[in-house]
Amino acid sequence: MTISVIGAGYVGLVTAALFAELGNDVYCIDTSKERIESLKRGKIPFFETGLYEYLSKNAKEKRLIFTTSYSQSVPKSQAVFICVGTPPSKNGEADLTYLFSAVEETAKNLKDYTVVVIKSTFPIGFEDDLERIVKKHARVDFEFAASPEFLREGTALTDAFHPDRIVIGTTSKRAQKILLELHAVLPGERIICDMRSAQLIKYASNAFLATKISYANALATICEKTGADVQKVLLGIGTDKRIGSSFLQPGIGYGGSCLPKDVLAFIAQANSFDYNFDLLRSVDAINNSQIDKFITKIRTAVGATDNITPNLEKIKIAILGLAFKPNTDDMRDAPSIKIIQSLLNLGADLTLYDPKAIDTARKIFPKQKYAKDVYDAAKGQDALVIVTEWPEFLGMDLQKIKNSLKRAIIIDGRNIYDTIKMKEIGFSYFTVGR
Ligand code: NAD
Ligand code: UGA
Repeated sequence: MTISVIGAGYVGLVTAALFAELGNDVYCIDTSKERIESLKRGKIPFFETGLYEYLSKNAKEKRLIFTTSYSQSVPKSQAVFICVGTPPSKNGEADLTYLFSAVEETAKNLKDYTVVVIKSTFPIGFEDDLERIVKKHARVDFEFAASPEFLREGTALTDAFHPDRIVIGTTSKRAQKILLELHAVLPGERIICDMRSAQLIKYASNAFLATKISYANALATICEKTGADVQKVLLGIGTDKRIGSSFLQPGIGYGGSCLPKDVLAFIAQANSFDYNFDLLRSVDAINNSQIDKFITKIRTAVGATDNITPNLEKIKIAILGLAFKPNTDDMRDAPSIKIIQSLLNLGADLTLYDPKAIDTARKIFPKQKYAKDVYDAAKGQDALVIVTEWPEFLGMDLQKIKNSLKRAIIIDGRNIYDTIKMKEIGFSYFTVGR
């Protein structure tokens, strides 16, 4: 088939790579000329394992074309996948400006019957607005479908080629047929439902993942108060197949461009349908409190517990990990940002390091010092703070790190090391819930 993918971001580029690799003719459209020009030159706007290989191979074989022009591709597409951002607005609701504008530009260029598939995460209640926008500009047959995306950054390609489920949110048999055909060779359960159910599946999934994380974080706090070990407690819980062990890793809370915004948007959405989602308010509150608790932990670790502000003055701290999770350079809503800001407010002298996200970080913290590797970061520091669990940090030579530090203190927001081993090496090792 010929398809258009609107938005050359994380979801758009992965979707374009997937459908081109499956043998379709794919046009990937973005309003950013700069982004499209650099994609044409083979430059990917962010780090995602395997993405460059898939995009360059399919571009070379002419199954994938990058363009800023809707008119070049939409008229000949059987399906248009809308993958633009739906960021949070000030009150937590999803900002649908990009979505409406992408639908409008698509509508202006529809020629024959087309399925307009919304892959962006968008709230229930705006379906009529979307229909109205298209009808204002197009006299042709068209149908909407919601087919939410479940990829995780860092493993986006694996997730796209091996999905657990493919949600096809449309009651139109004609649209269902096109979407089933496009996804035919992919594994995973097919969930065919109406559009609203599909939209809800997406919010409910992300909110459930966030709930698991906040539950683990709440347990970590209880463990700290009672002297129990949260890792053992979670092992004991997660081995029950009904519960499962994934997304039960406690730490500094969930970040990234999706979980935090989707939890807030889901609360706002529920509110607009007259349901007070107190459960999710607590999930969000627990998540926010993780950062404050972590800052207190850092202050305790370095002995700066008095109430004089700034009380971390002259304290040298290395931050290991800036990306919101490993294997990405994305720092959208990364916990590291709040941690760095709080420590700077307390007067700390920071050195920052991340295997991939330093370029991103420089745009947010242009005046900070950046290290070239973990050992460089550790040199002469009072403490080392682990913010992201990069494999590189797991594999580092801890004896060498200890010798580089001024004081052998590690505050670990991701519980990546064995507590006994750390004690044996001679570290004062602070963790979450152990
Ligand atoms: P992104 O910010 O990385 O990319 C969005 C792209 O859309 C940008 O390149 C932007 O220039 C472009 N754009 C904006 N308006 C446009 C328009 N009118 N026409 C053409 N291009 C336009 O966004 P993302 O992270 O890929 O997220 C997209 C959507 O998918 C969001 O709703 C998000 O919640 C959802 N989602 C994201 C992920 C993820 O891991 N990032 C996973 C699942 C779902
Ligand atoms: C998340 C979902 O996992 C995807 O299924 C979804 O498609 C995507 O959001 C989206 O809608 O955009 P992503 O944001 O890439 O994917 O990353 P996750 O792996 O979910 O991690 C999110 C945050 O939770 C990270 O900060 C991570 O460190 C944190 N986390 C994750 C924990 O603190 N504990 C855990 O056990 C797992």
